Amino acid sequence: MKTLSTQVVIVGAGPSGLLLGALLHKTGIDHIIVERQSADYVLGRIRAGVLEQGTVDVLGRAGVAERLHKEGLRHDAFALIFKGEFHRIHIAQRQHGKHMTVYGQTEVTRDLMDHRAALGLQTIYSAGDTVAVRDFDTQQPRVSFRQNGEEIEIKARFIAGCDGYHGVCRASVPAGSIQNFEKAYPFGWLGVLSDTPPVYHEVTYSNTERGFALSSMRSLTRSRYYIQCGIDEKVENWSDARFWTEFKARIDPEAAKRLITGPALEKSIAPLRSFVAEPMRFGSMFLAGDAAHIVPPTGAKGLNLAAGDVNVLSQAMAEYFTEQSSGGIDNYSARCLRRVWNAERFSWWFTSLMHKFPDSPGQSTGFQQKMQEAELDYLMHSEAALQSITENYVGLPH
Ligand code: APR
Ligand code: PHB
Repeated sequence: MKTLSTQVVIVGAGPSGLLLGALLHKTGIDHIIVERQSADYVLGRIRAGVLEQGTVDVLGRAGVAERLHKEGLRHDAFALIFKGEFHRIHIAQRQHGKHMTVYGQTEVTRDLMDHRAALGLQTIYSAGDTVAVRDFDTQQPRVSFRQNGEEIEIKARFIAGCDGYHGVCRASVPAGSIQNFEKAYPFGWLGVLSDTPPVYHEVTYSNTERGFALSSMRSLTRSRYYIQCGIDEKVENWSDARFWTEFKARIDPEAAKRLITGPALEKSIAPLRSFVAEPMRFGSMFLAGDAAHIVPPTGAKGLNLAAGDVNVLSQAMAEYFTEQSSGGIDNYSARCLRRVWNAERFSWWFTSLMHKFPDSPGQSTGFQQKMQEAELDYLMHSEAALQSITENYVGLPH
């Protein structure tokens, strides 16, 4: 048995774990990250790409925002399409100049990994499926795993569970100590990445009688498009041609004419889910990011919620180790859950507004669509409603 010792063990080297590590390093807190997969595997994941102002600020505080500021695309507005008409919603004018930044999660992860390597911070990749968290109900928690035939154990004061929805940390909490809240949506998103110029210059969400579509991008030459699809759809049944035909039918006619199509660099289907685990702290173990919550992607809150969690957690741990105060760690869960539930509500609302739902009993076909169109019409003609959607879209305070 090889034994290591540190102040914090971070389980998971996704955005949550890597960003927490960068923030802990900034405050001189010793930590080790243990990641199940290889670094290449982590980098290979295609995820969202729209950052709130608060997330950009945290990345700046962590010292990893240089490339983001050079290459990220500033977006002062986003747009909605319904009844075939295009409606732009300006954020910055309504939210004191706060805006969104388009910068792929893969690039955020790459920047965090490069930063870590440059600093020589310890990241144990390919730890495999034997990672276990132990004694987190004491002040001497441990993380153990078997690698290359050797048992390794890491002793620490805290464990940060940044291991995502399918991770080991939340799964290790006794059933009676945790409450899970979840909702599965009756559809998924079929996403395509293509080296084609985006058809809109800002993120655009479409509500049509055929279903939802989203036009986003990773740069001015790389588009990220999605269409709502059935939960039983198989990606192999969607040729590029079939995707482009359906996508064109769900954007405004002018855009459909100018759309430049191309081969899909990546094509995948993801289910939509709302999920929250309460609380987010169990003795010496803290959950952050997807390990604690999942939002439907409408509104791009996933990565931004993760950044908020680790921003709060890093400050709480700094208070503990430098001021011997437990106030921050004792308040971590309640403080994060308030923002998490606000984002869950917004993501659920936006998803409910923009997607085609199956008819409900006692509801005639088309009634749901009429309700959505009425709400969208009200939204576009009410400054109060526009204040509300832009405040939530640009992100609530951490
Ligand atoms: N041991 C060690 N690492 C693990 C384990 C385990 N038992 N289980 C999972 N992991 C790793 C995964 O391989 C992954 O790299 O934890 C990491 C979790 O990363 P994410 O799932 O990306 O979650 P998070 O870092 O919280 O980032 C949230 O990612 O999924 C998107 O939409 C989500 O944008 C949001 C962001
Ligand atoms: C993306 O660019 O992948 C994206 C953008 C906005 C969303 C969701 C995903 O609401």
